[in-house]
Amino acid sequence: MTTTVTDAPGRTRRLTGFQPTGRLHLGNLLGALRPLIRAQDTTESIALIADLHAMTMEHDPASVRRFTLEQATVMLAAGVDPERTPIVVQSQVREHTELHYLLECVAAHGEATRMIQFKEKSAAGGPIRLSLLTYPVLMAADILLYDTTQVPVGEDQNQHLELARTLATRFNTKYGPTFTVPEGVRPDSAARVMDLAEPTMKMGKSLGTGQIGLLDPPEVIRRTIARAATDQAGRVRRDRENQPGVTNLIDILAETTGRPPSDPTSYAALKREVGDAIEALLAPLRARHAELAKNPDFVRRVLADGAEKVRPIAAATVRRARAGIGLLN
Ligand code: TRP
Repeated sequence: MTTTVTDAPGRTRRLTGFQPTGRLHLGNLLGALRPLIRAQDTTESIALIADLHAMTMEHDPASVRRFTLEQATVMLAAGVDPERTPIVVQSQVREHTELHYLLECVAAHGEATRMIQFKEKSAAGGPIRLSLLTYPVLMAADILLYDTTQVPVGEDQNQHLELARTLATRFNTKYGPTFTVPEGVRPDSAARVMDLAEPTMKMGKSLGTGQIGLLDPPEVIRRTIARAATDQAGRVRRDRENQPGVTNLIDILAETTGRPPSDPTSYAALKREVGDAIEALLAPLRARHAELAKNPDFVRRVLADGAEKVRPIAAATVRRARAGIGLLN
C-alpha cells in the first residue's frame, strides 16, 4: 500500500463520512457504502470514520474505540478496497483539528447556532457540549482538508455541507484561493432506507427496533422484518405518503434484488422475500467480517496506511490555509 492519493486538476474526489456512534446498518450499506464501493473503479474516494464527531454528545470511550474498529472492519468486509479507497480515522490525521480551528476563525457564532441538528440535539436536555455547537465546522474541515469535490449527503447533512461551501468561499475571498468548494451528491431515493418500525424516519435516526444491523444474526433480521410496520391497505404498492412501511419494503427489495415483489396482495410474502434478500446480501458480509475480526491488527494497519496516504494532501491544505490566514509556516 504505497500509492498516494494524487491531486490532479479537474479530478473528482469524493469523501464519505461515517460517525462511529453505533453499528453500521442496512441504511448505511445501501445508501453510502454500496455506492462508494461501486464507484471505486471510476471515482477516487476517501472513507472517513469521524470519531471526533462521536464525542459531541455524552459518550462512552470504550464504545467509540470499539465502533471505530468495527466500522472499519465492516467496510472491508463489505468490499471497500483500501488500496483504492483509503479508510481514514479522523483523529489519526491531526490536520482535521488544526483546520477546524482555522475555520472557526471565519465562521460566525450565529451560523453555528442556526444549524437545525444543533437545535434538535441541544433541545434533548442535559449539558450541551461546546463541540456539538462547533461540529459542523469540524465537518467542514473534514471536507475541505482533502480538496474534496463531491460529498454524498442525506437531507440531514445538507445544511452542514452548505456551511462547508460558505466557509470555503469566504476563506478564499478573504485570504486568497485555498480551498476547493465541494458539491453535494444526493443518493437516489430508492437507496434511502427508512426505519422498519418508524418508516417515516431514516433508518438509524430512531432508537427503536426498526434497524437492521449489518452484523445482525439471521434470526434477528427475520424478527425485525416480521415486525416491520405495514398498514391495512392490503396492497403491495409504492405509495410513500399513505403506505410508507410497505413502500420501504418494496424499495429495499428492489435495491437488494433488482426485482419487484412477486405477490401484489400479500404482506407476509413481501416480508418473506425481503428477509431472504437481506439475508443473501448480508451472509457473505458477516462471514468476511468474522474472518477479519480475528485479526484486528490487520485492520489497524489498514487504518494507519489510510492515514498515511491522505496525510500529504491534508498537510498541503493546512499549509495553504496557515499561510493565507497569517501564520508563519
Ligand atoms: N456528520 C456526518 C453524519 O453524521 C458524518 C461526517 C463527518 C461526514 N464528517 C463528514 C459526512 C464529512 C460527510 C463528510 O452523518
